[in-house]
Amino acid sequence: MSNTYYLTTPIYYVNGPPHFGHAYSTVIADTLARYQRLAGREVCFLTGTDEHGLKMERAAASEGLSVHALVDRNSAEFRKAWGALGIDYDEFIRTTEPRHRQALNELSARVFRNGHLYKGKYSGWYCVNCENYAGEGEQKVDCPECGRSTEFMTEESYFFRLSAFQEKLLDLYRRRPDFVVPPARFNEIIRFVEGGLKDISFTRTSFKWGIPAEFDPSHIIYVWFDALTSYISGIGFGADPGRFEKYWPAQLHIIGKDILRFHAVYWPAFLMAAGLEVPRQILSHGWWLSQGEKMSKSRGNFVDPLAFEKVFPMDGLRYFLLREVPVGLDGNFSFDALVQRINSDLANDLGNLVSRSLKMVETYCGGRAPAGGGNDPQLREQFDKTAETVHQHFQAYQLHKALESIWELIGAANRYIVAQEPWKLAKDPDQRRQLERVMVNALEVLRLLALLLRPLLPLTSQRIWDCLGLEHASLSARWDQLRWGEFPAGTRIGAIEQIFPRIDKDSFLERLSQNEAASAASTETRITLDDFSKIDLRAGLILQAARVPNSDKLLKLEVDIGREKRQVVAGIGRKYAPEDLLGKRIILVANLKPARLMGIESNGMVLAATENDVPILATFTEDVTPGAKLK
Ligand code: ME8
Ligand code: MG
Repeated sequence: MSNTYYLTTPIYYVNGPPHFGHAYSTVIADTLARYQRLAGREVCFLTGTDEHGLKMERAAASEGLSVHALVDRNSAEFRKAWGALGIDYDEFIRTTEPRHRQALNELSARVFRNGHLYKGKYSGWYCVNCENYAGEGEQKVDCPECGRSTEFMTEESYFFRLSAFQEKLLDLYRRRPDFVVPPARFNEIIRFVEGGLKDISFTRTSFKWGIPAEFDPSHIIYVWFDALTSYISGIGFGADPGRFEKYWPAQLHIIGKDILRFHAVYWPAFLMAAGLEVPRQILSHGWWLSQGEKMSKSRGNFVDPLAFEKVFPMDGLRYFLLREVPVGLDGNFSFDALVQRINSDLANDLGNLVSRSLKMVETYCGGRAPAGGGNDPQLREQFDKTAETVHQHFQAYQLHKALESIWELIGAANRYIVAQEPWKLAKDPDQRRQLERVMVNALEVLRLLALLLRPLLPLTSQRIWDCLGLEHASLSARWDQLRWGEFPAGTRIGAIEQIFPRIDKDSFLERLSQNEAASAASTETRITLDDFSKIDLRAGLILQAARVPNSDKLLKLEVDIGREKRQVVAGIGRKYAPEDLLGKRIILVANLKPARLMGIESNGMVLAATENDVPILATFTEDVTPGAKLK
């Protein structure tokens, strides 16, 4: 068996920055990649960005940017987010790179030469979000994938003879009963292919932002074929045959269930058409839902990984993603569940085990590991069992169960300490030897926990290792070399850290949303003058001001804007007393839709800068006439 292991994430669209769902696939892939490396495989882990297509053209236009500028900026955001999440990828492929174009040219030339393409005309209902035709009839259909409205398009197109691959695909599925996991998803695919396959559009002529077909440069290769090719362009197809042959076929494509058909049907057919091997397996994970809807950037219901990093150790998010939901199923996201996981599993179970064990070693043993290597038979047995089951769960992609098993070991260690009562042993000089045994057993569990956690929570693993004062090199031991009883006697433990603080939901959410706002500002949207002119800003004179009952933040203002007087509710009550505001000349957003705040209608918004959460009103120093327009 070859010792290489090649795995991939989807390559993500860059019409916006990365979000929670993207982080999910990428964290699963990173965890599996790390596991395979620890198992001694030569791993190549590829991720990247999907940068062509109508969707990018439109996103760029709506931001007033060139498509180049948009994709460069957002692709960089993905690399930044993966850096923060501790993602250790080997290849990052962008479909706008020359090496990708070269590979796509080669692959599509083979498909063309082998006679699998023919010219025709396509008419149908196109979903720009999914970059896919949703139906062909006269009747307009919404996209079955994302539910969005479609547009009718008609264009000259080369077709790919997908229909000719029905039998070959079914044959592949029969030979490889685990080609797609989980099995329920695989069955859906088999049913779909058994139902008959239609030829699909392979090129497009209705837009420009993409890679022209070499066999007919007036056509652009359909963005899905372009994107799938990244799995081979990133490992040297068409440029570096040695590298390509070393890693292809991929062992595993990790994707969300939304794009399974492209991976389990189109992609293998496309590869077969070019005379290449198909991937070994596709792992289709479920969706994170928020109030029953798929979480996505465009729906605005997501957690920004970059904002999370500023508020809590990143492994908190990694842990939640991996622990909360089995890989194949959908999961419901809620902040309550996230905070619960962080406080109970991370701060309490793991965090306390680390800090209390180290504090005791510091107090009772002068901060040095006693000799003996840990000899408690029950703990040792629990470790052996954990190591074995974790291994099995990894093989079955049951990452939540791998964590569950590790937490059983944590539980056993916490119970062991409580049962041994080292604080009592410490008072009795005759129990000195027993106290040392308890301490070294505790240290040994921590050492092995750090090793078991490496693929799942790499940053935490490193931190525990540092707390233990162990050599860096020994953290990279292979998985099959993990053995109980090797804690080096005399090791000086490192600084005692609280590796995960407890959090309070409200202040956590507040800090998260502040950082989301800040990171949104850093990928700031550029607007056109035309966008700006939609905002009606007026000079206003404050005539009256009063506190809103039961609120220390809100003030009710009456503002003269020339043609009329406006009632406005403003969140400036902590900084300004009502009487300070009379006669101030301020700036009002005059065409904001009315809103109700604590039951009071607010008809406009006063502008203020916020510094450390304190609002500072924008005021005129000159006698401007109320109602004067700002531009
Ligand atoms: O589809 N829950 O890119 P994309 C879980 N460029 N996973 C989610 C998710 C959610 N709510 N939302 C997104 C594309 N994902 C194409 C792929 S591959 C050759 C081309 C994850 O930016 C999940 O992995 O829309 C899904 O498949 C992927 O993001 C889609 O990312
Ligand atoms: Mg998508």
